[in-house]
Amino acid sequence: MSKTERPQDTNLPIQSAKNDFAETQSSPWEDIYLPKEAMNYLWDIINNSPKRNAKGTLAGNISKSEYIQDKDNWFYEYILKGAAEYMYMKKWDNYYECVVTKNKTFPEFYLKNLWVNYQKQNEFNPLHCHSGLYSFVIFMKIPTHWKEQHALPWLKENKEPMASNFQFSMPDPFFKRTLSLTNIYFTLSPEDEGRMLFFPAELQHQVYPFYECEEERITVSGNIWLPDAPVVEEK
Ligand SMILES: [Fe+2]
Repeated sequence: MSKTERPQDTNLPIQSAKNDFAETQSSPWEDIYLPKEAMNYLWDIINNSPKRNAKGTLAGNISKSEYIQDKDNWFYEYILKGAAEYMYMKKWDNYYECVVTKNKTFPEFYLKNLWVNYQKQNEFNPLHCHSGLYSFVIFMKIPTHWKEQHALPWLKENKEPMASNFQFSMPDPFFKRTLSLTNIYFTLSPEDEGRMLFFPAELQHQVYPFYECEEERITVSGNIWLPDAPVVEEK
């Protein structure tokens, strides 16, 4: 698909960073596979850091959400800082002011909050966006395979089965209907454990339910802020 062609459908399947949309449309997210050391660290803070219930401040219609702590800022320094700086400099206005004119100093981002979501079968996370500048989701445990989910009896003849998918929704620059959104979905399986989608906090996204599996799906998310941003309640 060329840059000038609009896709036939508003729902675009994405299964890895190497896909048509990400390569031809300059996707607003980054698709990153975390090193094992980072995953081990996240499991450690999930299991051992002090917890605080996050359900009252988050969008998910799910059983359990808890804030966790990035001890000594390790995960931010090791993974998130570089991702935030890369995304910031991808925007031409930022690059121009920081590097070309030097009118602006490079910002010191910070990780404002970090949480873990536990999703059971039939639960979902409705369309929402986050506060701050950048956000991320890390797939820690995906107990189902999308091929099995999309082949469930009531879905197998469906044109676009969505069970267990993660989805971004955003305006389509090639489509003149300004109230319409394009949906870009990610099919998920255990192979996606360790994958991080890093995206602008304002990018709308949602998680569809999975079915017929007793195990929990576990993800870690957080928000990265600029130091001078006004403080508002989390989402
Ligand atoms: Fe979210």
